Amino acid sequence: MAQATEQPLIAALDIGSSKVSALIATTDGDDRLRVLGTGQRESRGVKRGYITDIEASEFAVREAVELAERMSGVTIDDVWASYGAGGLTSEVANVDVELGGHQVEPSDIEALLSQGRQAIDRGGKVVLHAHPALYTIDGAHEVQQPVGLHADRLGVDIHVIAADAPPLRNLDYIIRAAHLGVRAIVASPIAAALACLTDEERELGVALVELGAGVTNVSLHYGGILVGLRSIPLGAKDISDDIAATFGVNRRDAERLKCFYGSAMTSPRDNHELIDANHGADDGAEPVRITRAQLMMVIRHRVEELTGQIDTALKDLGFGGPIGRPVVLTGGGAELKNIADYMQGVLGRTVRVGRPRTLAGLPEAHSGPAFSTLVGLARLAGSGSGDIRDIAIGTAVQGRQAKGVVGRLINALRQGY
Ligand SMILES: Nc1ncnc2c1ncn2[C@@H]1O[C@H](COP(=O)(O)OP(=O)(O)OP(=O)(O)O)[C@@H](O)[C@H]1O
Ligand SMILES: [Mg+2]
Repeated sequence: MAQATEQPLIAALDIGSSKVSALIATTDGDDRLRVLGTGQRESRGVKRGYITDIEASEFAVREAVELAERMSGVTIDDVWASYGAGGLTSEVANVDVELGGHQVEPSDIEALLSQGRQAIDRGGKVVLHAHPALYTIDGAHEVQQPVGLHADRLGVDIHVIAADAPPLRNLDYIIRAAHLGVRAIVASPIAAALACLTDEERELGVALVELGAGVTNVSLHYGGILVGLRSIPLGAKDISDDIAATFGVNRRDAERLKCFYGSAMTSPRDNHELIDANHGADDGAEPVRITRAQLMMVIRHRVEELTGQIDTALKDLGFGGPIGRPVVLTGGGAELKNIADYMQGVLGRTVRVGRPRTLAGLPEAHSGPAFSTLVGLARLAGSGSGDIRDIAIGTAVQGRQAKGVVGRLINALRQGY
């Protein structure tokens, strides 16, 4: 068991449709994250990323967090949680201030960002992220660091990600019901991108496809920011459900058939391979034997549908340009054998499986593609949010619960968004 630590604790919580996972980390002296413990529980009461049963989902959260706490030897007060269901929007807002030719001072940036806070109101939606993406001087020159430059006008492009309020409220509610504070709710494509894309890919252009159990999130990243996203209400669990329905086996067997014998690519040998389909059936059940080719037909059917929808989403988002721009496939569904090869053929682009870049102390069992969002949450938490509202508000709001991102979320919820 790890020793309790003096360093601040970071806790990440990913509530998915198939699993709830928690990770507790701290920063080493040199600001590197070190994982102290992880926990995972089967998810209950979550469908396609939405909370559908308060009690069941709260229980799963409590258990996953307790496991991570036991392994870490510490207790946590609050978490960075992910939101990956539908209804996320991504836009860029632009604001500028008059400078009259003088040198840009830090106070000008503060004034600009304060003005930016007014501009990011998204009506009934809750703003999850508002990041200054790019500063402009006199409407034209893009600059990284404007302080000290002379200009007539200073502008900023703010990248805003917002989501529908009711599902966020439910997420917030069950986490609090499990006696945890909510430090921030992060859009899962933002977290997953941080975990499994390289800085260069995010800069030059890449599509990230997170194939979860119930949801597939497609996001485009360019110039270092997320520039578009689409959510498809289909996932790897649909493949298992198809297998269960077609062969009349229970869900556990269907899952086993998919994970051990399944693949996205067929082979002529599949006709000759016989598989016991109802391994875990109750005593007395008639054994069901199928050929691997029969299993493959069911899997392929769903994978084709899913890939078709991913292709449409990519086209909708305008993912064109250099053919070299890759697609990175992550989420638990990326573990299906040969899925990257299959998608590469259909999408006509390089497709690679994205695993989270590892963190010190991350257990092997939690380092596969299903944990990209969880690891990305911890990375984001460890690096500070960089959010415009934190920069602009600073720590003016009193009290631990009300600081920065926390205060923002609570305020948004209190204001009835
Ligand atoms: N080897 C494998 N072959 C095929 N599918 C797999 C394999 N391993 C895991 N999966 C599938 O991955 C899915 C779980 O993925 P993940 O953990 O990313 O989903 P989640 O976060 O719980 O759900 P969501 O993000 O969709 O709400 C399950 O449907 C599981 O069957
Ligand atoms: Mg997920």
